[in-house]
Amino acid sequence: MKVRPTMIRNIPLFSELTDAELDLLTASARQVSYPKGNIVFYEGDPGEFLLIVLSGKVKVVLLGEGGQEITLAMLGEGSFVGEMSLLDGAPRSATVVTVDKSTLLQLPREQFLELIWNHQGMAMKMLLSHMSRRIREADEYIRTLSMFDVYGRTVRCLIRLAQQQGVRNSERIVISDRPSHKELASMISCSRESVTRAMTVLQENGYVSTTKTEIILERRALEHYWNLG
Ligand code: CMP
Repeated sequence: MKVRPTMIRNIPLFSELTDAELDLLTASARQVSYPKGNIVFYEGDPGEFLLIVLSGKVKVVLLGEGGQEITLAMLGEGSFVGEMSLLDGAPRSATVVTVDKSTLLQLPREQFLELIWNHQGMAMKMLLSHMSRRIREADEYIRTLSMFDVYGRTVRCLIRLAQQQGVRNSERIVISDRPSHKELASMISCSRESVTRAMTVLQENGYVSTTKTEIILERRALEHYWNLG
């Protein structure tokens, strides 16, 4: 489907582009829609395009040979993914799958490289701030996996989700569109049963409560685990 400049004007990555540049970009980009649970590309594929999430949500995962899945990131509207292999020419470092029905913008490698070559501000935004943040998150992830038991990992994972997408008041943080125990398990590399046990303990201690669609964190109870901001 044809992409119109109005569809991408508000995406932070493109904020410094002029109307003429947005026109050029949209002329070379392609809009693609996927149902929920669709593989967008596999780890090891050649990197041919950058993807920008126009609507819906995708996850970045590592798939094991035995069918296990580790979730590295969940990315919503306005996020981009697939920049690494465009920048270093190596194959895709991870697999990307849609979590919800999603519409993505595909920007071919050549146009993407031309854009960052011509726009220092955009290159800085992408390479320095975004990549640094990603390495920090990866460091935290390594810490979580290597230094905490399943209970600690579950708490840290919930706090990370709360920081990324939670709605706060003075006492609680509400994570809506709650991940299932299976999805949480995939984020902290353990079994669904272990997450269920950890969630039960958290609920019994009054740290966390759940509804059908939400996970609610009690700020006071969890504050000693991490600075909740
Ligand atoms: P690329 O290697 O082209 O394809 C997979 C993409 O997943 C990668 O680019 C990044 O955009 C993204 N990605 C890889 N590792 C991580 C991570 N640890 N956290 C978030 N996103 C990642």
